[in-house]
Amino acid sequence: MNILLVGSGGREHAIAHALVKSPRLTRLFVAPGNPGTARVGLNVALDAADHDAVIRFCREEQIALVIVGPEQPLIGGLVDALEAYDILAFGPTQAAARLEGSKGFTKDLCRDYDIPTARYARFSALEPALRYLRENGAPIVVKADGLAAGKGVVVAQTLDEAEQAVQAMFAGAFGQSGAEVVIEECLEGEEASFFAICDGVRALPFATAQDHKRVGDGDTGPNTGGMGAYSPASVVTPDIEARIMNDIIAPTMRAMRDRGAPFKGVLYAGLMLTKEGPKLIEYNCRFGDPEAQVILPRLEDDLLELMLASARGALPLERPRFSPRAALTVVLAAKNYPGTPITGSEIRNVTSAEAIEGVTITHAGTREADGRLLAAGGRVLNVTALGESVAEAQARAYAAVDLIDWPGGFCRRDIGWREVAREQKRA
Ligand code: AMP
Ligand code: GLY
Repeated sequence: MNILLVGSGGREHAIAHALVKSPRLTRLFVAPGNPGTARVGLNVALDAADHDAVIRFCREEQIALVIVGPEQPLIGGLVDALEAYDILAFGPTQAAARLEGSKGFTKDLCRDYDIPTARYARFSALEPALRYLRENGAPIVVKADGLAAGKGVVVAQTLDEAEQAVQAMFAGAFGQSGAEVVIEECLEGEEASFFAICDGVRALPFATAQDHKRVGDGDTGPNTGGMGAYSPASVVTPDIEARIMNDIIAPTMRAMRDRGAPFKGVLYAGLMLTKEGPKLIEYNCRFGDPEAQVILPRLEDDLLELMLASARGALPLERPRFSPRAALTVVLAAKNYPGTPITGSEIRNVTSAEAIEGVTITHAGTREADGRLLAAGGRVLNVTALGESVAEAQARAYAAVDLIDWPGGFCRRDIGWREVAREQKRA
């Protein structure tokens, strides 16, 4: 069957890698894709925001399933538009994507269904928000309600910092996304990412990962879209997984059905593992980037089959199977990221890095010109390695990173440090 994959990041390249393993795949189109996806599929210059153009393309190319990678087209209603024309799509409808698109919506849902999360309040005016901050004190967390490319969250250590964040949001620092602000309790613990695959009624546990959001070693500096990740996250023990499924994922599925917006696709829970148990920090309605790069290489079942089953509302009873091996990915970013990245520099030696056993390189912000590979975005390449342990995957990934010749880029040198330390302790 023919598949259309929407997106252009490292996540989509990783999804493409998994799809081409499926015997059911005939042709893979990627819109718009990147130089990496061009090697496994056919890139097409389609604008995902132009729903009519996507529908036309699907009809012309007899697309059996559209897979939507990033959140913007989901929140923009691409799945609804396709379904209206009986085109099967993997991912939630616009109404279900509110789990990611509106933090206030998700917080209210947690309140109504008793889902463990940080205590919170919603504000649409400055004065009451400032009053709430003064009453509750720091540390405290301030969030723009809508999408803000991972930059709309301030974990304020002082009251001053919190007040400045609220003022900036109401002054329009995030446009409409900041017209409403959520203020919440600062949770303590270790973070983990939990992924479930859903078909509107049922959710199956998919995989766990831990990512590194801060730009600098030792988890310092500003937040980014993610500088690296590893999977599985051993902090999510079978007991904790059962609590996540029972206390967080299952009631969310029920809530979305009750609200007339059953959730299909990937439900990605960002969690804080606190002393009282796992608590929801936020939901995303798609695979993480770079988490997909470490989860999908471990998947032993057919991703295309699973996505079809999710879209049709008929997931199997058994949870998907994963290799016990570890995967770790290091993001190579252009200098000055997460500020305005300095693009255009040449990247050499990617092929020799890829030749290391167990290493795969996925592209994100790259472009090709005259046979040369150039940086064209903030996060540029992901170097992913498999290993018997996270330490082994880490050693392989950095061996590959060190072969890449790119003076215009940088990466963190400590991806996976928490898990490597745990492994050393266990040994
Ligand atoms: P989010 O965009 O909601 O995932 O938030 C970005 C990051 O801010 C999270 O990964 C956490 O590190 C941090 N964060 C968000 N909410 C809280 C909270 N209530 N308590 C502590 N840290 C938080
Ligand atoms: N890595 C975080 C995200 O995909 O949202």
